[in-house]
Amino acid sequence: MDKSSRLKVALQKSGRLTDNSLDLLVRCGLKYSRGKDQLMCYGENMPLDVLFVRDDDIPDLVQQDVCDLGIVGLNVIEEKRLAFKARGIDPLFEQLMVLDFGKCRLSIAVPDGVEYEGIPSLRGKRIATTYPNILARYLRQNDVQAEIVTLSGAVEIAPRLGRADFICDLVSTGSTLIANHLWEADTILESQAAIISTPVPVEADKQDWIHRMSMRIDGVQQVKESKYIMLHAPRAKLAEIKKLLPGSESPTIVPLDGTSDKVAVHAVCRENVFWETLESLKSAGASAILVLPVEKMLA
Ligand code: PRP
Ligand code: ZN
Repeated sequence: MDKSSRLKVALQKSGRLTDNSLDLLVRCGLKYSRGKDQLMCYGENMPLDVLFVRDDDIPDLVQQDVCDLGIVGLNVIEEKRLAFKARGIDPLFEQLMVLDFGKCRLSIAVPDGVEYEGIPSLRGKRIATTYPNILARYLRQNDVQAEIVTLSGAVEIAPRLGRADFICDLVSTGSTLIANHLWEADTILESQAAIISTPVPVEADKQDWIHRMSMRIDGVQQVKESKYIMLHAPRAKLAEIKKLLPGSESPTIVPLDGTSDKVAVHAVCRENVFWETLESLKSAGASAILVLPVEKMLA
């Protein structure tokens, strides 16, 4: 297989998405060796290589077809989507699926001691951000005129430097705001990680791997919450017990050797199984209840 037919996936170099992103690929079966420069991982058992880059560059790399896939926050995706659209760029990279990590929000933050009474307080003020397109849309939608001060980083110190009255920045734990004497006022956008793919049609081999990875990622995400439950139930209580199994579709009913009034019930529960559920099952007549983790799942 020549090099160009290997899938290239862009991941954040160092930041909140890095570990979870690589971990997701590993859970999807990837075994890799890391390049000496730490900038790439080479897939040993699949035609897939990882490039580590700044998260803000990921949509550009995917848009320009340098990478086939990228994992990046919806905040960056949305900002770039608006920027590309404004420049008339078409077709745009595609958003394949949203992932269950990297949760954070883009918010308006206000310096301690400064008054803020909702969006109208932004009128005529200077707001520093690295998300000028999302902020501009928010102001437009709320019919507020304000000056957007576009920065490439260190937005949180802009008010202290006298460059802005407010900021619009990403908040995750909130510790950056606290450290900089700011408080979170309004949320503009909720964000989490997502996968994007190139707008350029890819060759069949690669497309096949993209499809397989999507299915595996889906499986990995479903498995996280899923449990496999096995129990014994009196036949007479079967209907009641089935109702108590959280998020399970038609369970398997297995006869038990040497008895006709009891059966074994096996079910995949797509939701977390709590002790309370087990207690209810027991009260309903179930016995020998086992809850097992599900390692892999392919729908
Ligand atoms: C964001 C934001 C803050 C920090 C907030 O940066 O600019 O610096 O995270 O997180 P906290 O609420 O947990 O303190 P990001 O991680 O996106 O880094 P980048 O802007 O350099 O990509
Ligand atoms: Zn960034």
